[in-house]
Amino acid sequence: MINSQNSEETDSHKAMSDLEIVAQSIIFIFAGYETTSSSLSFLMYILATHPDIQQKLQEEIDATFPNKAPPTYDALTQMAYLDMVLNESLRLFPIAGRIERMCKKDVEVNGVFIPKGTVVMVPSFALHRDSAYWPEPEEFRPERFSKKNKGNINPYVYLPFGAGPRNCIGMRFAIISMKLAVIRVPQNFSFKSCKETQIPLEIDSQGLTKPQRPIVLKIKLRDETLSGA
Ligand code: HEM
Repeated sequence: MINSQNSEETDSHKAMSDLEIVAQSIIFIFAGYETTSSSLSFLMYILATHPDIQQKLQEEIDATFPNKAPPTYDALTQMAYLDMVLNESLRLFPIAGRIERMCKKDVEVNGVFIPKGTVVMVPSFALHRDSAYWPEPEEFRPERFSKKNKGNINPYVYLPFGAGPRNCIGMRFAIISMKLAVIRVPQNFSFKSCKETQIPLEIDSQGLTKPQRPIVLKIKLRDETLSGA
């Protein structure tokens, strides 16, 4: 954003004002912090309540980064199971349960007339749990996103980051930072449910998708050694 003010570059685009830069920075924090943090909480809940999946993920992590080696970008992007687990977690718990678009001109879609100015709501949470698209939708099944199966997923039915030219601008950054956390933490710790863990989790879908009660888990050090941050 600061580079946009560089006079050598303003031929190709308009410079951003200082106010626009501050406003965009605030939006990035607002749109990027709680979304990433809540998605990670849901994922940790899933790992704690599905020990077989947690173990399989830890095996992939340990094989990719032996002796708790620090993750590298190239190796991280090659981890197939991590990708499947993250995608499936974002399916069950899409932080933005609904997305919206305003209709720019009168249009007819499948026989339904939508006048200009209408706000059309897309129910991502409901679509992500619709049995017409996902067999046994309440089940956590990373295999839905395996190399073999993911080609069958309709991109307008799976919408954790929205779709089209106004989808989430932070998507790639969010995926990398979540993957980094889901490598680094399970390298050192395992998650377990405890008597305070709410199973099944009850969801509050007012505003952003969040648990009705805080997620409480037990965390166990995997062995005596702890790798650096
Ligand atoms: C797990 C993390 C995140 C999730 C689940 C998420 C999800 C979403 C969704 C569903 C939208 C609406 C897209 C649409 O209407 O099609 C959105 C928009 C947006 N997100 Fe994210 N987001 C995440 C992280 C981030 C991060 C880290 C940033 C910034 C660093 C960010 C910045 C934005 C911005 C600026 C928009 C508005 C884009 C526009 O209107 O053009 N998000 N996000």
